[in-house]
Amino acid sequence: MKSEPTTLDQMWDWADSALTRGVRDRRHPARHPVLATLGPHGPEQRVLVLRGWDGASVRLQTDAATAKVQELSADPRCSLHIWVPRHALQLRLTARAALTHGSADDWDRMPDHAREVYGGTPTPGTPMPHAEAFEPGAELGRYMILTLSCSRMDVLHLGPNLHRRALFSNDAEGWHGTWIAP
Ligand SMILES: Cc1cc2nc3c(=O)[nH]c(=O)nc-3n(C[C@H](O)[C@H](O)[C@H](O)COP(=O)(O)O)c2cc1C
Repeated sequence: MKSEPTTLDQMWDWADSALTRGVRDRRHPARHPVLATLGPHGPEQRVLVLRGWDGASVRLQTDAATAKVQELSADPRCSLHIWVPRHALQLRLTARAALTHGSADDWDRMPDHAREVYGGTPTPGTPMPHAEAFEPGAELGRYMILTLSCSRMDVLHLGPNLHRRALFSNDAEGWHGTWIAP
């Protein structure tokens, strides 16, 4: 168990290392962030696998036929939520998503079972007469990468005696943070 983050640099380091661990470690809670988007019925949320973090942007993967792709095409604003219980750390990232098709090289390296989440009939969200009516499939054209360019990160640490919260903003000079009331 780490001690407590007492400086803004440590708050940032805790957040950055949670995201880095989430990409590498399947058992880390940051592996499964919740992505929130704006849909026609209001806010929508769902769990995704965290695939990449480079210090400023997050990479996720999805089926191009899902509702989230339509939602992000209409409005790229989104947010990502992560809770790391053992570090009592909550991260809330504000971002804009860019949508690109996954590469054929990455597709070729993917095992068959992993490809099957990008495809299938009918497309996600379509009503079906029964649960078994879905036919799995793997379609390179539906393999989509979501790149979330993060403009803000709200980091909350629940300490035993003090709750600390910092807001980091990303501009042309990089990330800078300030303490805010928890
Ligand atoms: C543990 C877990 C991991 C998931 N990982 C992904 C993922 O990486 N990409 C994805 O598109 N959906 C993933 N899903 C499914 C989504 O949560 C969601 O049900 C699906 O993408 C349809 O979402 P939408 O209709 O809002 O677009 C995952 C679900 C769970 C429970």
